[in-house]
Amino acid sequence: HTRLLHNDPQGIATAAAILRAGGLVAFGTETVYGLGADAGNNTAVAAIYAAKGRPGINPLISHFASADAAFAQVAATPLARRLAERFWPGPLTMVLPRAAHCGISPIATAGLPTAAVRVPAGDATQALLAACGFPVVAPSANPSGRVSPSDAQHVLAGLDGRIDAVLDCGPCRVGVESTIIGLGGDAPVLLRPGGITLEALEDACGMTLALPARGNDVRPSAPGQLSSHYAPGLPVRLEATAVEPDEALLAFGPPLPGSGLAWNLSATGDLHEAAARLFAGLRFLDMEGHRRGLVRIAVQHVPEHGLGRAIRDRLIRAASPRA
Ligand code: TXA
Ligand code: MG
Repeated sequence: HTRLLHNDPQGIATAAAILRAGGLVAFGTETVYGLGADAGNNTAVAAIYAAKGRPGINPLISHFASADAAFAQVAATPLARRLAERFWPGPLTMVLPRAAHCGISPIATAGLPTAAVRVPAGDATQALLAACGFPVVAPSANPSGRVSPSDAQHVLAGLDGRIDAVLDCGPCRVGVESTIIGLGGDAPVLLRPGGITLEALEDACGMTLALPARGNDVRPSAPGQLSSHYAPGLPVRLEATAVEPDEALLAFGPPLPGSGLAWNLSATGDLHEAAARLFAGLRFLDMEGHRRGLVRIAVQHVPEHGLGRAIRDRLIRAASPRA
């Protein structure tokens, strides 16, 4: 049985106490809900992989209340400090070399010499991390390979009974996961597009970033970039210019005619609105489409600039062949 905790001082204190005792608590961030555990507790970290059915080669992000707390665990570079200044708290994750005295469980970093760190935004998230006082690892709070959760009900739909509690922080403001930048090598690399746009990141870095290859490799070069990911139950067809009678429609801008079941990411073509509505839309069309006997989700074109890059990345993964 999974407890639903309210976003009030008592709920936050209870969530922190469960985490401190080695339990698993899902909580809202500005991006998606994360499934939290004490990053220094090997047993708790291992329990996250078990609850999600996540492959052990896929490392986790550690969450902190402040940049100082984050940079105590990794070897920060001047660029990392500049990015923290500009984007934290917010949807940016930095991959940096583990510090010599790093307190993050090696299970959480999948044995790698690097660790992913981020300072998320949001009052409840910040209050929870401050109450904990230790790094909190949190992958998205969904069974591995499924659609990420952007509200507390989404978390329960996938993990009820498998985790101790969910702190209900309301719907997530951004709606897609953090942007991940790799800072452990010679040049910074974009490992995952997300809530901070590539344009903003390149502007802050003062240079163009190397982009990851979009492949179908099962054993990813950047860990966790498994191609079949964010998958709803119904197959997904991208770049639709017409809708078949047996398809549900995920629209963007003026919707294609002829669809019985549709969810518009943004009727006005606003990419921020579209990101915030993406995962709820995939879940809705999947559930309702299945109930109505539809066989597919057709997706309209989304432009590849700003948050569109992250939205398209998630849609391409949702449409890629299942493992
Ligand atoms: O917005 C987010 O980032 C959310 C919220 C909860 O913070 N978290 C999230 O976690 O999306 P997850 O586990 O679903 O995705 C983490 C990604 C994975 O693709 C993983 O491979 C990558 O981060 N990652 C973690 N540590 C890494 C490392 N040391 N090197 C390269 N990639 C790493
Ligand atoms: Mg995830």
